[in-house]
Amino acid sequence: MTVDIVIGLQYGDEGKGKVVLDKVKNKEYDLVVRFNGGPNAGHTVYNNNKEIVVHGLPIGLIYGIKSLIGPCCVIDLDKLEKEIKYLEEKGIKNVRENLLISNNTHIIKREHIEEDNKREDVGNGIGSTRSGIGPVYRDKHARIGMRYEEVKEKKYKMVDAMKTIEGNDKILFEGAQGMGLDIDWGDYPYVTSSNCGISSVINSGLDFNRIENVIGVAKIYETYVGNKVFQPECNRELEEISEKGNEIGSTTGRKRQCNWLDTEKLVRYIKMNSITELIINKCDIIEQVGIYRTIDLKFETFEELRTYISVIINTKCKTIKNIRWSYSSNKI
Ligand code: IMP
Ligand code: MG
Repeated sequence: MTVDIVIGLQYGDEGKGKVVLDKVKNKEYDLVVRFNGGPNAGHTVYNNNKEIVVHGLPIGLIYGIKSLIGPCCVIDLDKLEKEIKYLEEKGIKNVRENLLISNNTHIIKREHIEEDNKREDVGNGIGSTRSGIGPVYRDKHARIGMRYEEVKEKKYKMVDAMKTIEGNDKILFEGAQGMGLDIDWGDYPYVTSSNCGISSVINSGLDFNRIENVIGVAKIYETYVGNKVFQPECNRELEEISEKGNEIGSTTGRKRQCNWLDTEKLVRYIKMNSITELIINKCDIIEQVGIYRTIDLKFETFEELRTYISVIINTKCKTIKNIRWSYSSNKI
C-alpha cells in the first residue's frame, strides 16, 4: 500500500510535472489523483522526447494509468475534451477509459470565464490565467455552483472519490500550482482560489494514515506569474536566469518574474505539508549563470549555496528524509 503526494512549494512551475512523470514511470501506481485547481495549471512533460503540455488532465493518463479528477478540483468540460483529443493525437491510448471524475467536482461555466476575463480586462484583476477559477470557486463556496453529478450528458465516468481512493492500493496525488499561490497561505490576494497543499489531498476523501511520502518540489530560484511586483527592477542576473531558464508560462505564454530563493518561506511550506522528500530543480541554470545566492545571502560557489540550503532544511524541518538536486528538465 503506497500513497505518495507531489506538492509545489513556490508559485507553481516548480517542475512538478517532471517529478510526477518520473514517479509514474518508475513505480506502479494503480491510480493518479489531481487534487486541486483546474485548467489554470500547465504541466510540461517530455515523453519519448515529445513535449506534452497538460492543463486540466492528470499526468497519469499519459502513462495509461487510471486517473481521477478529485473534488477540490474544478473542470472546464470544453477544454477537457480538447485536451483528451490532443493526447489521443499524440498517440496516447485509453485516455477516455482511464479518466474518472468525482461526482462533487465543480464545473467552470462560460459565465465564470467571462467574469474572470472582464475583471482582468478592466484592470481589476490580479493577473489570473483567465480560466474562470476565482468565480467558480466563489460559486462553490456560496453554494450556488454546479457539480459534475448535475451534468446531464456525462461523457466521462463519474465516481465517488472516497470509494475510488479506498479501493486502490498504490496512489499518487498530483498537485497543481504551489503553496505561494494557496488561497489561505499564499500572498493574498495574488493567489489562486484553491488550497494547493496537503489539506486538499485529505479533503479528496483520503484516510490520512495511508500517506507515505510527501514530495515537495521547488526551484533553486523562484518565479511568479501575475500582477504583483516580484522581480527586482533592472537586475541583469535575474534577467539572465529568466532567459536561460526559459521562464515563460505554459498556460498563458506570459513571462515569469524571477527572484532569489526565499528559504524562510520554503521552510514554512515544508513544515505545513510534512514534506519527506524535497526536490530542488533548475540547479543547472544557476550553475550556468554563475550567481550563487538566496534572497538575503551570497555565496562564492554552488557547493556553498547547496550546503547552506541543506543545513537550514535539515535542521529546521524534522520530517525531511532526503533532498535531491536536479540539473535537467527531463530527469530528477
Ligand atoms: P487563477 O488561478 O487563474 O485565478 O490565477 C491566479 C494566480 O495564480 C495568477 O497569478 C496566475 O498566474 C497564477 N497561477 C495559476 N495557476 C498557475 C500555474 O499552474 N502556474 C503558475 N502560476 C499559476
Ligand atoms: Mg506550470
